[in-house]
Amino acid sequence: MNIIKDTIVNKKTNLNPIWIMRQAGRYLPEFREIRKENPNFINLCLNEKLSSVITLQPLKRFNLDAAIIFSDILMVPYGLNQKVEFKKNFGPILGEPDLEELLNMEEKDFIKKISPVYEAINIVSKNDLVKNKSTIGFVGAPWTLLVYMINKQSPKLSLKNNFFADKILIEKLLIVLDKFLKIHIKEQINNGANLIQIFDSWAGLLNDKDLEKYVFKPTINLVEYVKSFNIPVICFPRGIKNYEEYCKEVKPDVICIDYEVDPLKIVKNIKIPVQGGLDPKILLSNKEKLKNEAKRYLDIFKDHPYIFNLGHGVLPETDPDMMDYLVKIVKNY
Ligand code: CP3
Repeated sequence: MNIIKDTIVNKKTNLNPIWIMRQAGRYLPEFREIRKENPNFINLCLNEKLSSVITLQPLKRFNLDAAIIFSDILMVPYGLNQKVEFKKNFGPILGEPDLEELLNMEEKDFIKKISPVYEAINIVSKNDLVKNKSTIGFVGAPWTLLVYMINKQSPKLSLKNNFFADKILIEKLLIVLDKFLKIHIKEQINNGANLIQIFDSWAGLLNDKDLEKYVFKPTINLVEYVKSFNIPVICFPRGIKNYEEYCKEVKPDVICIDYEVDPLKIVKNIKIPVQGGLDPKILLSNKEKLKNEAKRYLDIFKDHPYIFNLGHGVLPETDPDMMDYLVKIVKNY
């Protein structure tokens, strides 16, 4: 059994597993080299040869315990025929969602459109570099995908006033997302993903009164679905104020925490395995600060099943040397 799974299933506290969100990405010169030749990000995600190479790049450099497939949460709206583009220095831009088209989408057409993602998982999971390690598949949570599909770009700090205006559109989109996120999860698992993470990057934008409807309920459906395969599921409701309530309601196998929550409060109040927390900006400082902050998390979670990770994705400005140093701190703890 690999050490991430051992930590999750058997609640081991002495294994010090580590992987990093966005570990395959722009802070690595070997990624930027491939990216330079491939200006279209979606096409790169749909190139199973290159996306599997990119997925493995960080594992060649660092002693990480998981590969996370190089793809994007927005491959699902793309697979549903909504237009998705990534503009340099801006982020994603989506087209108008066509409800008629979304409602008529067939499973086989969706799978066909994004099948290279599944082929990449297949290639990666069979590579020697991930032997006895986790191969992580992922989806965006329904709420976060709803935000992108309606807002058509990253919302930054808040939702537009009229975000909830079209109630029928929202209801129908949630039904479509539930169906196709399950298909996306199933295909990733069938192709070798042995751990699933659900990213709810915009959970923090909602008022408490709307959490039940848009975050808890739709996520519970996915969590139960992943569990039906006997595969562990990690949830990352970024920016949510009450992680304790989230765990009680959604019941993930692992809760991933962002860098704004107090880890002392988490360790005291949450019994399930925990992942993440360290502020990605610490990797831009110096080795001494990095060591102190990483050790603070390791000390706090010393007797708790804990998977080391950051509290959000690694920043593109990060020096790969700092990443190397971080992995060594965790492994030598
Ligand atoms: O973690 C990994 O290494 C796996 C790959 C991965 C990517 N995106 C690749 C990517 C994962 C797990 C994601 C998830 C994702 N994508 C989330 C959830 C996590 C989070 O960051 O909150 C979200 C919200 C997205 C949507 C998205 N994709 C945005 C907003 C952007 C633009 C901003 C940015 O960071 O560039 C992307 C692009 C993206 N996804 C890149 C990568 C490596 C950068 C593409 C490039 O090279 O320009």
